[in-house]
Amino acid sequence: MTRKIQGFDVGGSSVKAGLVDVDGGQLIGELISASTPRPATPAGVMQVIAGLSRRLPEAGEGAGVAFPSVVKRGIVRTAANIDQSWLGADGAALVASALGRRAEFLNDADAAGIAEMRWGAGRGEQGTVAMLTFGTGIGTALFIEGRLLPNTELGHLHLHGMDAEKWASAHVKTALNLDWPAWIARVNDYLELLHGFLWPDLFILGGAVSADFKEFAPLLRSEAEIRPAHFTVQSGVIGAALAAAEASPS
Ligand code: BGC
Repeated sequence: MTRKIQGFDVGGSSVKAGLVDVDGGQLIGELISASTPRPATPAGVMQVIAGLSRRLPEAGEGAGVAFPSVVKRGIVRTAANIDQSWLGADGAALVASALGRRAEFLNDADAAGIAEMRWGAGRGEQGTVAMLTFGTGIGTALFIEGRLLPNTELGHLHLHGMDAEKWASAHVKTALNLDWPAWIARVNDYLELLHGFLWPDLFILGGAVSADFKEFAPLLRSEAEIRPAHFTVQSGVIGAALAAAEASPS
């Protein structure tokens, strides 16, 4: 019997959700979404998650939530692109009480990376793999021999005198109305910075922009191999559910 777990991905502009077949590494049915509340307080986000959960088909045990901050044992420790009232909040406990089921609560890029490493662009990859998600900020997930080093936060490395995510996120592309060459020049600066520190074997580029990979791939420059995320905007939802399944295998 396939195990079905609800996954959620809290982003700067929308919260996405889906029912995930965690034994097949894929969504069952549609990815659904709702606007991120403003301000995105814990109570507001929980209301949105509960509403999305009711719209999804019945699931088995557990739920997984991908969240845009450092998360240690379910507790939110930073708030770069989310309301400050999240600092110190027990995300896992809040979701468990909103949904009435055990919840796994983890960093969004870590979740996306788990999906890509188990079932997507990084499947079977050994060596050092860096998953990068381009959205409101830049999320990073680092895998060594398939094992995650959680909460790496390399989107906050300094580049051209600012946080790298303020230089090269997808949000910056939209806000400054950059075309592909102008934006990819910034991404290349960032890849070079990361490469100097990590010497990865593979970069996986995620976020909504990964759907347009063919358009900008010829402009990318790095000594490491570069692949687009297989699950594009679904990675966080699928990875969150996989993390919930891995936390309680049955
Ligand atoms: C946060 C990270 C998050 C990334 C992508 C950054 O601003 O600090 O925790 O993974 O945005 O959402």
